[in-house]
Amino acid sequence: MDNKYIYIKSYGCQMNVYDSDRMKDLFTDKGYQITNDINKANLTILNTCHIREKAVEKVYSDIGRIKKIKSNKNMKLVVAGCVAQAEGNEIKKRSPSVDFVVGPQSYHKLPDMISLEDKTINSDFLQNEKFKNLIYNSSKISSEFLSIQEGCDKFCSFCVVPYTRGPEFSRPVEEVLNEAKKYASKGIKEIILLGQNVNAYHGDCSNGKSRDISYLMNKISEIDEIKRIRYMTSHPRDMNKSLINAHAENYKLMPFLHLPIQSGSDEILKKMNRKHTVSDYMKIVDQIRSVRSDIALSSDFIVGYPDETDKDFENTMNFIEKVKFVIAYSFIYSPRPGTPAQHKDNVELNVKKARLSALQSLLTEQQAAYNKSFLNQNLEVLFEKTGRHDDQFIGRTIYNQSVFTNSKINLLNKIKKVKVTNSTNFSLECQI
Ligand code: SAH
Ligand code: SF4
Ligand code: F3S
Repeated sequence: MDNKYIYIKSYGCQMNVYDSDRMKDLFTDKGYQITNDINKANLTILNTCHIREKAVEKVYSDIGRIKKIKSNKNMKLVVAGCVAQAEGNEIKKRSPSVDFVVGPQSYHKLPDMISLEDKTINSDFLQNEKFKNLIYNSSKISSEFLSIQEGCDKFCSFCVVPYTRGPEFSRPVEEVLNEAKKYASKGIKEIILLGQNVNAYHGDCSNGKSRDISYLMNKISEIDEIKRIRYMTSHPRDMNKSLINAHAENYKLMPFLHLPIQSGSDEILKKMNRKHTVSDYMKIVDQIRSVRSDIALSSDFIVGYPDETDKDFENTMNFIEKVKFVIAYSFIYSPRPGTPAQHKDNVELNVKKARLSALQSLLTEQQAAYNKSFLNQNLEVLFEKTGRHDDQFIGRTIYNQSVFTNSKINLLNKIKKVKVTNSTNFSLECQI
């Protein structure tokens, strides 16, 4: 039989990447080989993201490009992920070159859809069934994503996730632990727990008891081979006491917290339907710093949300000054179809751009200062991949900073104490 090749492209968040990995596992199990060359592929999967308009535009332009490649060979084209969920019928109408459309909660059905050709669109919410029917073959060297929670019931007025990923769902505790153990047995040292609202996790144990994320973290830290645990993305509303305490008590839990706030203005937070205030957020920061003073904090910001004034933006800047994030992601507001905020977009583009640029300069300044504060200090690093240059290795500190070093000895998947010799805005250099 001829070799069959599959090409998969991810457009979205870490959960989107996790889903791509699972799709790879489903198809390698059916005899496919992974290729990075789309011209070689018999099956192409675009695993898409719907979060901002730009991400969606990219998908349609890629479909146009692939149509040409497809016209002179035998290739099936699948659109998966959050755009597939949000506008599946539209994709099929607009782009006849797309053969199958499958949403993020039903992609375990994809091999059957393709081999049986019985259904070309599937957007069912089958969270429970999905996880039980996936295959979990780690292809990573040292660090694996592990989805423990899906979807969202919070309905922030700008966000598509509650519609594309569906209602909040937590996987059962034992199912998660079995997946973690499987990765550990393959040599994985770090597990990154994922969820759109990861700290809202409330999975059932086999005895029927519901457990939270700190319980799960403690159970995973009992697995000897696992040395590091991280988690993302958390919502301020779900930062409970036991999770905060886990940062003091569970030494495998890394001192890093990604906690999006979106804006430093209470007026805007209210309009966004975030259901928390700036001072609620500050309380969490104070609590977590009181149990773990060195915790590295990260966040997300949206600028140019409808009706955002100069004063609102100034509040956001002051808030950033006060908290001192070690890293943060920021975006210009993008009105999304189907969300409550979709019909208003009244901040001018040049104002949005100026705000984004000011905010990013401040964040970069803070990140550079943070990195610089580690000069000549010793840090523990897990090396995850090789760099572009010979003998170069790239890893992460406990605070999630990127670290580069040169070594004649293979450092992959090793945890080493290093000395920081140089720092840049976004990374550290070190010596073993
Ligand atoms: N669940 C996470 C975030 C999910 S989306 C949370 O509750 O914060 C990741 C980030 O994308 C968000 O934090 C937000 O900053 C950004 N984002 C979401 N919708 C957006 C939109 N319509 N326009 C611009 N940025 C958006
Ligand atoms: Fe989107 Fe808000 Fe849910 Fe985060 S909490 S996924 S921003 S709706
Ligand atoms: Fe994008 Fe869906 Fe993730 S919209 S950010 S891929 S949950």
